Amino acid sequence: MTPEEIAQLRENFYNAEIASLKLVNEDLMVVRIRPDFRVPPHKAGQYTTIGLGHWEPRHPGAQEEPPKPGDDRKLIRRAYSLSSSVTDEKGELLDLPNMDWVEFYIVLVREAEKAPPALTPRLFMLKEGDRLFLGEKFTGHFTLDPVRPGDTVVFLATGTGEAPHNYMVWDLLRRRHEGRILSACCVRYHRDLGYAALHQDLMQRHANYTYLSLTTREKETVNQKVYIQDLITSGQLEERLGLALDPGRTHVFLCGNPKMIGVASVDRATGQTTYPQPPGVVEILEKRGFRCDQPAAKMKGNIHFEEYW
Ligand SMILES: Cc1cc2nc3c(=O)[nH]c(=O)nc-3n(C[C@H](O)[C@H](O)[C@H](O)COP(=O)(O)OP(=O)(O)OC[C@H]3O[C@@H](n4cnc5c(N)ncnc54)[C@H](O)[C@@H]3O)c2cc1C
Ligand SMILES: NC(=O)c1ccc[n+]([C@@H]2O[C@H](COP(=O)([O-])OP(=O)(O)OC[C@H]3O[C@@H](n4cnc5c(N)ncnc54)[C@H](OP(=O)(O)O)[C@@H]3O)[C@@H](O)[C@H]2O)c1
Repeated sequence: MTPEEIAQLRENFYNAEIASLKLVNEDLMVVRIRPDFRVPPHKAGQYTTIGLGHWEPRHPGAQEEPPKPGDDRKLIRRAYSLSSSVTDEKGELLDLPNMDWVEFYIVLVREAEKAPPALTPRLFMLKEGDRLFLGEKFTGHFTLDPVRPGDTVVFLATGTGEAPHNYMVWDLLRRRHEGRILSACCVRYHRDLGYAALHQDLMQRHANYTYLSLTTREKETVNQKVYIQDLITSGQLEERLGLALDPGRTHVFLCGNPKMIGVASVDRATGQTTYPQPPGVVEILEKRGFRCDQPAAKMKGNIHFEEYW
């Protein structure tokens, strides 16, 4: 493809630019995207799509992608939760409704089992000012709608799954939520905790806020991994929360790796529920009286989830 053809495709497809891009480490970014259109009204916890053309260069450290004839002029799009840095440089809560950008927290997938990852190896070639596609539809049911004033709110994530939780934390703090708020995130290495400093600061400023981080591949943790599920079964989560996990007044939000979440499948004919093994959080909490949302049946419970793949 000639440079002129590529310039024309970018002109045709792209409707946004990179406002800022911070690499937390070489495989993890916090990026703000400024669309040409007005940021649509949305709720904390929702997602939109980001896109780049097949014609864009790929990160040299990513799995190679065999050429796909017919795709070379198409856009690759993926869903991304809206994230939030919660506060500005002075420690004040961000005035998000009046910002002309939206924030995302994205990990570089260098290789994947089924097919080479298409979008992130291209996203990680971008720099400030570069153009890309941003979906105009901001949507999703993973929101704070079911939370009542005074409820305990628990956010449990793996990796970049903390993105929508951070936005929801911003919303709870903005509306001066009085119930306890606990956010936990499990990552491979300390360097994968892109918002660690923010959470420390929030804990200093807000007595009802607790953040817990877990690593699973550091020298001192790799042989005794504590997953999010273990935090619950060991009682550590309740200890840090200072409260029992009471299904009557607690909402649990789960985001990230589907194995951590562990959504059950229900046999339509028999109604029998089968949980994936080893157990995810859903099975552990349902055995303690919680009920998971059932999007197909439009049923809201007190466990809400967003699976990233
Ligand atoms: C509603 C929704 C919101 C999402 N929000 C985010 C987000 O805020 N940040 C983000 O980084 N990703 C998010 N994702 C995943 C995102 O859509 C892409 O799948 C991901 O960025 C990889 O894109 P890809 O084209 O490079 O590889 P793909 O072909 O899309 O994925 C290849 C494989 O990479 C792994 N993978 C995908 N996403 C992740 C991830 N986030 N962490 C660990 N492993 C992963 C899975 O094994 C997957 O099968 C979200 C997905 C959904 C459905
Ligand atoms: N993070 C990095 O250093 C790194 C570097 C290069 C490339 N990548 C790529 O980035 C992508 C995403 O990596 P990621 O680390 O953000 O996401 P991830 O692979 O989902 O891991 C996030 C956390 O979830 C844990 N986890 C895995 N299985 C679990 C289960 N059954 N129950 C509960 N927790 C579980 C992981 O522990 P485990 O340690 O047991 O997996 C890890 O602590 C991958 O495709 C990877 O190839 C990451």
